[in-house]
Amino acid sequence: MVLRIIHFSDTHISDFGQFNEKMFYKFLERIDKLEHKPDIGIHSGDVVDNGTLSEYELAKDLLSHLNLKVLLTTGNHDERNYGGSLFHEFFGDSEYEHELGKLKFFVLNSPMPDRDEGRLGRRRQFYLQRRLSEIGDSYFKILVFHHHLIPVPYSGREMNVLEDAGDVLNLVLKNNVNLVLMGHRHIHYSLKINNTILAYAGTVSSRRTRGRFGNSFNLIEIEEDRVHIEEIKIEGGIGMKYSYKIKPIYQEY
Ligand SMILES: [Fe+2]
Repeated sequence: MVLRIIHFSDTHISDFGQFNEKMFYKFLERIDKLEHKPDIGIHSGDVVDNGTLSEYELAKDLLSHLNLKVLLTTGNHDERNYGGSLFHEFFGDSEYEHELGKLKFFVLNSPMPDRDEGRLGRRRQFYLQRRLSEIGDSYFKILVFHHHLIPVPYSGREMNVLEDAGDVLNLVLKNNVNLVLMGHRHIHYSLKINNTILAYAGTVSSRRTRGRFGNSFNLIEIEEDRVHIEEIKIEGGIGMKYSYKIKPIYQEY
């Protein structure tokens, strides 16, 4: 059985500024045209652009068109202007665990109010260590947060990684986390370190695209012994594709 995740990020929904509403609707159409319906969507943060009430109202409406269970977390833009309180009001918790078959998602907050830097901090690290030890290798473990765990190319001067990236990376590798999903810098990228696949989503609907990368999202297919990650360019064109061999960790479900 194959599980399909739509991993998207940095929608930057707004009633003015960098939000490209037309592109958002093209994204919805692109999802409708996928050969297989995805099982779940992951939004890795920067849902809105300035954290204001009108943006959250618009975001709630636009995201409802997805027709898909979506796990969301906050990005630095969502936390602007006391936006964290509105995120909670409109979308509920921004930190939680979620289970889908043998997939176990840990959705975490990396931003801080009115700051662009991110970190998980010791409290979340302790919690993660405890939970990851408890579940061992019985699940395919997926972490979701907004900032970068390690630097990615084409993202400019480095100030995008978690402030405590070293400790979080150690925790991730030591506990064989299978997949880490991030956003933030509007760059698609993926690589594998030991048993851990890292995947960064580009931006779905911000006008602040980088170079000629355009707007995109990731389609992630998890098979019993492989993970495929495809960058889908919303306006067409060829995106990156990766196929990683993984240790079979789950049976038919
Ligand atoms: Fe961001």
